[in-house]
Parts: sequence; structure tokens; C-alpha cells
Amino acid sequence: MRYIKIEDARPGMQLAYNMYDTDGHTLICNGSVLNEFYIKRLIEYGFDGIYITDELSQDIEINPVITPELRTEGLVCVRESNIDKCKGVSRRIVDQILNKGVLSLDLTDLRSFDGYTYAHSVNVAVISCLIGFGMKLKEEELEQLVMAGLLHDLGKLVIPRSILNKDGRLTPEEYEVMKTHASISYELIKERFDISSNVKIAVLHHHENLDGSGYPDGLEDDEITLYTRILHVADVYDALVSKRPYKLPYSPYEACEYLMGGGGIMFDTSVVEALMMYVPFYPKGTQVVLSDNSEGIIVDNAGKRNLRPMIRGLDGTMIDLQEPENYNLTILRGSNEKIIDPTIEEDERNKMLVPYKKYRLMIIDNMLINLQALKGFLQHSYFVDTVSSPSQAIMQLKRQSEPDLIILDMDMPEMNGIEAAEKIRDVLGEGVPIVFVIDSNDKGLMARCRRAGAAGFIVRPYKPTYIKAEIKRILTGREVVE
Ligand SMILES: [Fe+2]
Repeated sequence: MRYIKIEDARPGMQLAYNMYDTDGHTLICNGSVLNEFYIKRLIEYGFDGIYITDELSQDIEINPVITPELRTEGLVCVRESNIDKCKGVSRRIVDQILNKGVLSLDLTDLRSFDGYTYAHSVNVAVISCLIGFGMKLKEEELEQLVMAGLLHDLGKLVIPRSILNKDGRLTPEEYEVMKTHASISYELIKERFDISSNVKIAVLHHHENLDGSGYPDGLEDDEITLYTRILHVADVYDALVSKRPYKLPYSPYEACEYLMGGGGIMFDTSVVEALMMYVPFYPKGTQVVLSDNSEGIIVDNAGKRNLRPMIRGLDGTMIDLQEPENYNLTILRGSNEKIIDPTIEEDERNKMLVPYKKYRLMIIDNMLINLQALKGFLQHSYFVDTVSSPSQAIMQLKRQSEPDLIILDMDMPEMNGIEAAEKIRDVLGEGVPIVFVIDSNDKGLMARCRRAGAAGFIVRPYKPTYIKAEIKRILTGREVVE
């Protein structure tokens, strides 16, 4: 079987995997031949892609981490908020994962955004279990993690759909409503004596960040339990690779870049590393374009093969990227990716935020090379002013209309970033968010920056995907994980 984007589905193609609706009922069976009606329905349901079978890909088998039947049961028990059933499902999810030989997140793409919360909860449960397995947690600990994954967003079921699926920027009031879901999830389970306190705490705190910028309690570092850190990373990963009414999906590669960029700021780096053992950047069955312009389908990518997979060329020849004779070949992109330039893709994502606005950024850094690097990442989507010292910036800010966001280097010879931020505030007041660029995720420094009103952090070395997502989050008030 192989994966194709829904836009590339054509009548006559044969489906290689059951498609389920949000209740877990089969929409179209494995083996069915697609027609215009089926394709229209799949698009209406919001599916991003499908698996088809053809001569070239018929021997490529994709084994989901858990069976579709168990996934469906998970969906249903989350939808019904049936906590007793969730316990049984958690045990079976762990059983299936522990009994599998090769673990790889190949089949998480078949999702419709209508039933996002349910599908997302099952995905987060499965991904949390994989991370926990990678971090050598015991079986009963994995069961608790899976349980936390299934239950973490129960509170979203009472958030109005007009907020949950809003295709634009949330107002501050709407964002406050959105944030209540973690506490509501906790309220729904806190009286249950048969649920471990580890699970309850992880559910309550799954939006807490290591640097204290999360909610509901603004916890930091060791105040956040390992289960919570795992749940947080699994939650963000799945949210990133999902299509939402207000954003296009990130590729697994981009999602990992984002998580690494936020390592030590939002996320526990060891948890991110554990996840990355199971994320294939090019999932099995994906059609890709190679650097010699030939095309092929990913046949095997497990473990160390992730970066150098086995590929079958469209003429049937096998290409093993791990063989020395193929070291000069590399994968350029998935051939079904309509938008291949990441900056154009970023633009498309920005335009999904209505009302769309091209924001103005000011970057202040004494190092020309840093200014050029940051400008290079951002100038496609924003108007970018670069300034080489705080005093020059202040002169400019007095003369011009204020920018929408300032990126400020912490280490400058004239004065440090915190002093510079104070002087900028004297001119602009509190209205313009300031993002600090720092050299390491030093907790003490980050706390000082927070007290100086830091809206966020960029830690060198730069991770473009993270920087873009973080700036967008600050400008638009939309978390990547809603
Ligand atoms: Fe959540």
C-alpha cells in the first residue's frame, strides 16, 4: 500500500485501508474502488490522505501500532467519557505495543478533523506509550500514561465548538475559555479513587512548560512530573502533524524540529529524543522525490533506516540509501507534497489565520550574522527591520510606528537584553511583545527575562521551525496545540 494526499485521489484507485468516521464506523472498506462520490465524502470528512494499493506497492505492508478495532474502541470510550472502558482500552493498548516487534509511527495520518478531539486523545495515548517504552518505564507505568493520554482533553468536550474549531485568531476571552479545558478534565476524574494520582496530575498539567510559561499553574522544571512531560510532548507532536481548521499539518520532520527547538524551554529534551526514535520522517508507503529527480516509494524505514530508508523506484528497482553506492542520493521531498517550499507553506499557514495580516518585526542584535540568519527565516512572512544596537533601536522606535514584535539579543556590548527591554518599554509601554534570544536554556536567566516581561525565547542554535511557530503563537494568540 502507499499513501497519497486526498487531492491526488482519483476514481478507479483501490483503497488499501478502512476509513472510519468519527464514531469509529467504517466509512469505506479496505479493497473498495474509489469513485467520485467516495472521494467527495472523504474530502467532506476532512481526511488529509488515504492509503491505496497498486502493482508497485502491493507488497508494502503497514502495520499500525495498534489495531484499527482497538483505536475505534478508544475513540468511542473517549467520546462517551467512559472512564471504566478507558481503563480496559489502556491495558490493551499497552499489550499490543509491548507485543509488537518493530515500533514505528507509520499510520497516524488517516484522520478527519471533525472528530479531532477523540482521535487526538487516542493518538496521544499511543505516542505517550511509545515514549514511555523508549524511556524504559514499567508496564503498569505505561498503562497509567496511556490512561492519561485518553483522558487529558475530556474537558474539551464542554468547550463550545465555535471556540474549539474557530478558523481564526482567538480573542483573549476565548483563549481563557480554551485554557480551562485542562482543569475541567481534572475535575471530571479527581474524585475517582481507582485512577492513580500520577494520571490526575498529568491530565491537569499537560499544558505546563518547563520555563513556567504554561497553564493552569505556571509550574517549572521539577515541579512537572515525568508523566506530564511525556504527555505534553505527545500532545504537541500529534497536534502539529494534524490538520486543523486554522492550520495545515506539519510534516513529522517539521514537528520534530519544533520540539527540539523548544527543548529545555517548553519540553524535556530527553522526552523529545525518546519520541524521535519512533517517528519516521518519511513514513512507509510515502512516494518521494530523490536528488537525482527519480521517484520511489518508501519500503522500509524502521530504526536506523529512518534517515536512509529502502526505496522502490517507480520502475521497480530497489534503492537502498544505506548502501555506499547510494550515499550520494538523498530524499528531497514527498512527491505528493503540493507545496514544496517551506516558506510558501508557512505563508499558507499564516493566511489560514483570519484576519490575515503581515506583521512587522524588529530584530536587535549586534552580530550581523545573527541578524542575517533571523531575517532570512522570517522575511518571507513578515516585514523585518534589523537594528544593530539598543540605542539605535530606541532612536528608530521614537521616529517610526511601533513594530508588532521585537526580537532582542540578550548579549550585547552596549547593554544586556534586560536593560535594553526596560529602555524599550519606556518608549513603547507594555504593548509590544519582546522575545529574547539567549545562548542556553539557563533557568535563572530565563526567569529574569520573564520578570522583564519576555513573551518567549529563542535559544541558539536557531531552529527555524520553532522560531516561526513561536512568533506566530505570540502574534496570533493561537497555541499550536489547541
Ligand atoms: Fe489539552
